Amino acid sequence: MKKTQVGIIGAGPAGLTLSLLLQRQGIDCVVLEFRSRAYVESRVRAGLLEQNTVDLLRELGVAERLEAEGLEHHGVYLSFNGVRQRVPFNELTDGRCITIYGQQEVVKDLIEANLERGVPIYFEAEATKVEDIEGKTSKIHYKHENMVRTLHQAESMTEGVIECNFIAGCDGYHGISRRTLPKDCYQEFSIEYPFSWLGILAHAAPSSDELIYAYHERGFALHSLRSETVSRLYIQVPNDEDIENWSDEQIWDELEIRLGDNKDFVLNRGEIFEKGITPMRSFMIDNMQFGNLFLAGDAAHIVPPTGGKGLNLAVADIRWLAEAFIQFYTTNKRDLLENYSQNALRRVWRAQDFSNFMTNLFHKKAEHGSFTNMLQKAQFDYIGQSKAYATTIAENYVGLKEI
Ligand code: APR
Ligand code: PHB
Repeated sequence: MKKTQVGIIGAGPAGLTLSLLLQRQGIDCVVLEFRSRAYVESRVRAGLLEQNTVDLLRELGVAERLEAEGLEHHGVYLSFNGVRQRVPFNELTDGRCITIYGQQEVVKDLIEANLERGVPIYFEAEATKVEDIEGKTSKIHYKHENMVRTLHQAESMTEGVIECNFIAGCDGYHGISRRTLPKDCYQEFSIEYPFSWLGILAHAAPSSDELIYAYHERGFALHSLRSETVSRLYIQVPNDEDIENWSDEQIWDELEIRLGDNKDFVLNRGEIFEKGITPMRSFMIDNMQFGNLFLAGDAAHIVPPTGGKGLNLAVADIRWLAEAFIQFYTTNKRDLLENYSQNALRRVWRAQDFSNFMTNLFHKKAEHGSFTNMLQKAQFDYIGQSKAYATTIAENYVGLKEI
């Protein structure tokens, strides 16, 4: 049996940021991760970092590669029926901005720093049961795939238990932490959207200096990027769409139609090296803790990707959670622990609203020219008519500093 102060389930952005913040204060922790290191380091996700997220990664001393390779953006293009407007962050948010840097790159940097600083991460270790969350010490049971194979290639499984004061459930939407919370201690809220995103990564120079979110009568499209030679692009497709129905050429043709807002726009095409379809969902629970168990990130909430808030919310939860553990271990006070959910949920609800707003504004949800669609257009037009409205979008997009 291994003993530690905080047992962390999940080595995504939430778990790995928490372990670094705790290690810095001399608080002992162990991270359990179901997948292999190679798997979590190559899992393609979004890549939009809010100012607060970048600031925290810098403060933790893990931003060297982010500073060299991340791409800062000081504005965003919003397009509707071929009319494009730019929302400038500098003048609307006092110089705050977003940075494009793939989530798997963040995860690589966090893993490297954790291992260098001596934080134990058990990869291919699946937490199977959480026990005694109301007791003085709690337990995490796990199964570890022993990678030393016998002559006959049979794999052996080792079982283990971690005994700890607190458990941080950073194990994503499908993890065990949320299922361990007593059913009567929280309510669930969710919205399933009637569309999904088909996303590609391509060896093609970005076709625009900024991201473009576009409404088109054929559906939403997003132009994003990863570097000067790699583009990240998405199109709205129906929920039951089969990726096999889309040849690479059809994807490019569709992007060209949906993003092309004037004669000058040229879509750079290139070899597509990754493609997939992701459903869209808003999901929340209204209490993220019980006893010694505290949930953070995707384990407690999912936002639709329009606005790129997922990773940033995970990191924002961790700020509160780390502060609460640090307060407890340094002063023996429990008020930040007791108020963790309440503190974290303020930002989560704000981001749920903004992600839902962006999703509704730019996706095709009703007949082109219908009342609903004309309301979407009226909202879009208002961005250009009102500095207050544009500021609301800008400050939510770069992320509120305090909330
Ligand atoms: N035992 C151990 N690890 C587990 C278990 C388990 N039972 N269940 C899940 N995990 C691991 C997953 O393999 C994953 O690596 O927990 C990790 C959770 O990481 P993320 O899904 O990246 O979640 P989080 O850290 O909250 O980050 C949220 O990820 O999904 C994106 O858009 C989302 O950007 C957001 C970010
Ligand atoms: C991405 O680059 O993957 C990305 C950017 C912005 C979003 C979603 C995804 O809103």
